[in-house]
Amino acid sequence: MLRVQLDRYIAAAATTFNSSTVMGMPAPPPWTIRPATREDGDFLVDMLVEVVNWSPEWKRKSRRRVLSAPGTAQYIADWPRENDLGVVGQVGDERIGTAWLRFFPTAEPGYGFIAADVPELTIGVVARWRGRGVGRALLRAVENEAQVAGIRQVSLSVERKNLAQQLYRAEGYRVVRPGYAGSDVMLKDLVQT
Ligand SMILES: CC(C)(COP(=O)(O)OP(=O)(O)OC[C@H]1O[C@@H](n2cnc3c(N)ncnc32)[C@H](O)[C@@H]1OP(=O)(O)O)[C@@H](O)C(=O)NCCC(=O)NCCS
Repeated sequence: MLRVQLDRYIAAAATTFNSSTVMGMPAPPPWTIRPATREDGDFLVDMLVEVVNWSPEWKRKSRRRVLSAPGTAQYIADWPRENDLGVVGQVGDERIGTAWLRFFPTAEPGYGFIAADVPELTIGVVARWRGRGVGRALLRAVENEAQVAGIRQVSLSVERKNLAQQLYRAEGYRVVRPGYAGSDVMLKDLVQT
């Protein structure tokens, strides 16, 4: 009996003093997530550059190159367009990540194109903030905004070697077809409320 009580005490103490908990309750994340605005355009370009350069094994492409290649520039050109929808994660004044959705016309599809009424996701987190749950939180936040806007599906393109694919699978995306050069196109049906 005493042993059981002691074990419980040790378990409770471990929970209480874990840095990610406060008095046994999970601590709130240090970031806030808000809608992306026109003024976030430059930051979204920064993150698009990170997305293009996701693999450390590749020669890094410059911001200028990303913005001069039509295939990648189309994700951010003229931000914000009328139907664009995005969120930004922030700690104090520092922007730490973003996720946004853009619709593409059938005549000018993105890499993850499914249909003109299915927006495509772009997501990036500042390198030093990765692996702490920011990406997942941004993904859920932008999907939430999309649901509120009546959007039924979200698509994306991701290289098969990019571990981001695990995040997408865990969040309900499924591969619907092979994409460009070692990529998959993934799709998620948003639950309508
Ligand atoms: C992909 C990205 C947005 C994920 O954001 P993040 O804040 O690092 O992700 P999270 O901490 O929320 O982790 C969510 C999941 O992502 C997966 N994941 C993403 N990158 C990973 C990595 N380098 N190693 C291991 N798992 C990784 C894991 O499944 C993880 O789940 P887990 O914590 O339960 O293991 C971020 O790593 C990033 O900006 N990468 C560069 C740009 C990019 O590749 N964008 C996607 C293009 S399709």
